[in-house]
Amino acid sequence: MIHTSTAIAANARESTQERVAQPRPVERLVAGMATSDGAGVRLTRVLTQHLQRRLDPFLMLDAFKSDDPDDYLAGFPDHPHRGFETVTYMLAGRMRHRDSAGHEGLLENGGVQWMTAGSGLIHSELPEQEDGLMEGFQLWINLAAKDKMTTPGYRDIPSEKIPELTTDAGATVRVIAGQSHGVAGAVSRPLTEPLYLDVHLPEGATFAQAIPEGHNAFLYVYRGAITLGCEVTTPVEVPTQRMAVLANATGADGVVFAASGGPARVLVLAGAPLNEPIAQYGPFVMNSQNELHQAMQDYRDGKFDGGYQNAS
Ligand code: FE2
Repeated sequence: MIHTSTAIAANARESTQERVAQPRPVERLVAGMATSDGAGVRLTRVLTQHLQRRLDPFLMLDAFKSDDPDDYLAGFPDHPHRGFETVTYMLAGRMRHRDSAGHEGLLENGGVQWMTAGSGLIHSELPEQEDGLMEGFQLWINLAAKDKMTTPGYRDIPSEKIPELTTDAGATVRVIAGQSHGVAGAVSRPLTEPLYLDVHLPEGATFAQAIPEGHNAFLYVYRGAITLGCEVTTPVEVPTQRMAVLANATGADGVVFAASGGPARVLVLAGAPLNEPIAQYGPFVMNSQNELHQAMQDYRDGKFDGGYQNAS
């Protein structure tokens, strides 16, 4: 039996439309791993490969934040992808995207690019600034086996097209994908049904979000700190730059958290697991080693260069 921190849960019930009677407890906190990728971009890999099964359908979450151009100027020159989706959320900075079919887009302050790599494409992601802050996230979401070879496509969603809401408690919620407090997000995807929220909480404010039982879910605190009221005796504090993996507790219907010690900003992510084998080799994520070998062969044979379309 999971008990609820009465103060936090009661506050949430009064102040929002989301009804969470039994919040999920925190299963573990994850600090992430400092690394570099692309041509030498420094970043923190928050969701690493060993969490892919646990957080199915999510494959990776990278956080980047630096005002030192040496950390980001090299960018991500031409590279391939196959078999999954990438979601880039830019908080600050400008990044130019170009792909093998000649499409391009500019991703900047508050905007999202949702790319379905599907059967394969080659693209570059390069900073369009020589100084100043570059901050954001890249999330990888798996595709079901039957969709891995779908036609590639992408959507650039400028900041003003991302639905936003403010709860009675004063939380501002940017709904990138899924649904929150009756507001549909900019993106909705079948099968994995991803929920992707960016929640801004003033000091002391509480936020509640329903999450279907069985979906895998986690939070990433990127400003301030939060407290989850999971059990009466042991509320869990999640400090800044930490991921909290939420337990798939029987009967739990969502998550409830409060900003502690100042304002906080939190990514809330959840999705339906695919429960299929995961085989990854760098930028290819398939279901078997044979499919990975085929991906590499197709890449070498130049089969990633065409068949691109704009997603609707
Ligand atoms: Fe990429």
